Amino acid sequence: MKTLITGATSGIGRQLAIDYLAAGHQVWAVGRNQQQLQELQTRGAQVGAVDLLDRQATLAWFATLERIDLAILSAGSCEYVDLPAFDSALLTRVMRINVETMAHCIEGVLPALRRSDDPHLVGIGSAAAYLPLPRAEAYGASKAAVAYLIETLRLTLFAEGIAVSLVCPGFVKTPLTDRNDFPMPFLVSAEQASRAIRDGIAAKKAEIHFPKRFTLLMKAASLLPRSIWLRLAQRMRKR
Ligand SMILES: NC(=O)c1ccc[n+]([C@@H]2O[C@H](COP(=O)([O-])OP(=O)(O)OC[C@H]3O[C@@H](n4cnc5c(N)ncnc54)[C@H](OP(=O)(O)O)[C@@H]3O)[C@@H](O)[C@H]2O)c1
Repeated sequence: MKTLITGATSGIGRQLAIDYLAAGHQVWAVGRNQQQLQELQTRGAQVGAVDLLDRQATLAWFATLERIDLAILSAGSCEYVDLPAFDSALLTRVMRINVETMAHCIEGVLPALRRSDDPHLVGIGSAAAYLPLPRAEAYGASKAAVAYLIETLRLTLFAEGIAVSLVCPGFVKTPLTDRNDFPMPFLVSAEQASRAIRDGIAAKKAEIHFPKRFTLLMKAASLLPRSIWLRLAQRMRKR
């Protein structure tokens, strides 16, 4: 299977690249970190050093792909808002990395997916989009946008036979979460995340969420009246 992975130079994307290579996939790994790209190349991946914020560079590199069966868009970042200063530049930065890069990749990869007999597009969102979380104004908004984008594409690409999945991880131990200064309940390893994502992809699940203990709690909390969630969130903030 011909598999493309963005964000392949770190964390979840890197683990997916390693595991799919081990499973015999032909992997196209995209990122910016040259050292990590070289390491993936020695493991057998074909690599693309692309800044996905650069639309022209992204489209030019994606145009070199002939056929892709599975595209996993994992590139992203996270920054938290610390009031009282509301930094709009931070929000723009996070939206651009999480939403704009994904849009560039979707535009770039669709022609290659359309050459596959069994195409599958996978976008990495986050369980953070299930409900408002303290300090996640920017990250949560970007992942809510990703969820809407991917879930809408599922409807519109269905007629073309392109499967579309949204991945909503809870906390996964990666360089992204190593920066967090708060307790991360039900933290899982990148290896566990990769297993859950690959199982979900194999089953062509519309939504792949894990760890269930965490994501089901978040889904349940999202059903609470917002007045109750407001009080619970104040307790979380104090902690
Ligand atoms: N870790 C978690 O707990 C968690 C939970 C929910 C959702 N997620 C989501 O899962 C995805 C992967 O997260 P992670 O934890 O694996 O993060 P990570 O270890 O920080 O990796 C982020 C990846 O994104 C790439 N990237 C960022 N900006 C880029 C750009 N402009 N152009 C090209 N590549 C770019 C990085 O490439 P370079 O380093 O080469 O620049 C890196 O490979 C993200 O979308 C994240 O929001 C993570």
